[in-house]
Amino acid sequence: MRLLVTGGAGFIGSNFVHHIIARSDHSVTVLDKLTYAGTLASLEGLPESRFRFVRGDIADAPLVDELFAEHDAVVHFAAESHNDNSLDDPRPFLDTNIIGTFTLLEAARRHGTRFHHISTDEVYGDLELDDPARFTETTPYNPSSPYSSTKAGSDLLVRAWVRSFDLPATLSNCSNNYGPYQHVEKFIPRQITNVLRGERPKLYGSGENVRDWIHADDHSAAVLTILEQGRIGETYLIGADGEQSNKAVVELILTELGQPADAYDHVVDRPGHDLRYAIDSTKLRTELDWSPRFHDFEAGLAQTIAWYREHEGWWAPAKDATESRYRAQGQ
Ligand code: NAD
Ligand code: TYD
Repeated sequence: MRLLVTGGAGFIGSNFVHHIIARSDHSVTVLDKLTYAGTLASLEGLPESRFRFVRGDIADAPLVDELFAEHDAVVHFAAESHNDNSLDDPRPFLDTNIIGTFTLLEAARRHGTRFHHISTDEVYGDLELDDPARFTETTPYNPSSPYSSTKAGSDLLVRAWVRSFDLPATLSNCSNNYGPYQHVEKFIPRQITNVLRGERPKLYGSGENVRDWIHADDHSAAVLTILEQGRIGETYLIGADGEQSNKAVVELILTELGQPADAYDHVVDRPGHDLRYAIDSTKLRTELDWSPRFHDFEAGLAQTIAWYREHEGWWAPAKDATESRYRAQGQ
């Protein structure tokens, strides 16, 4: 297939592009605006015969239409992706996550293009800390933040285009990703790079909030499986049974980097901070026979820490600007 990958210069999109080139015969065109979150440095080393990069906005209808005419399938990662930014300035989230997705869907409708939409478990809202329940494909949508509400809106647009226009689309909602090439604004890279710079990690509020971590390599493998074998119109939840409290993750990072496990600070909590996310990925595992390769979160985290230690040249350019934004918010 000739695949068009939106947001392919970001954290998970670039991981997926490397995965596709290594594990399939598909060729890839990346469409990416190169916002603060995207960098060509995450796409180095790809073979020119199978890879092309186009800088542009997913809301640019003429450009999108031209690219859809040349491709068999689209995997849509592009998004404004950070909750804290969405609380500071929601507008870009509406422009990209809602209008951008709408623009892609209209092009897919015109060209009959196979479409896979990438989303998040945050569309379901949050769970209580002591609730044994996990999200499934039938959990009602209940998003909390501007980020998660615009992702929820984009999911609903995709579902409506399937139902109303027979768009050949699938959706996936994944839990929190970690691994190399993640922007330093996100929790795990922020804390690793703080410690590497001699700064203390910053926990929002009590640090009891729970996230369900999955390695980005496992997310990419799941998306390729759904693209090739998923049933049209279906949603698949992607998760790797990786629940950890934020406090436990910070303690693991400090210990791995040879610091006392309690050498962190509590800072002002995120407004509307979701308590807990947890995914039940039974449908994907039983229907499509997918399973994660990273079972041991501590080992995956240690590998990620080693990558950030060795790739300061990749993350250093974004670190100062990111931290001054956080400082302005008291975080
Ligand atoms: P990211 O912020 O690292 O990357 C987003 C990419 O999209 C960047 O390269 C950026 O330049 C590009 N982009 C933004 N606006 C664009 C526009 N208007 N036109 C073209 N390109 C644009 O994000 P990520 O963490 O890699 O997330 C990718 C996708 O996965 C998102 O849809 C996100 O909602 C979803 N997701 C993320 C996680 C996670 O833990 N990070 C978990 C589940 C789902
Ligand atoms: P984040 O990486 O922003 O992902 P999400 O909001 O999509 O879950 O944050 C993960 C968790 O870490 C979330 O509970 C907020 C918390 N957090 C901190 O405690 N300190 C930080 O510096 C950041 C960035 C996040």
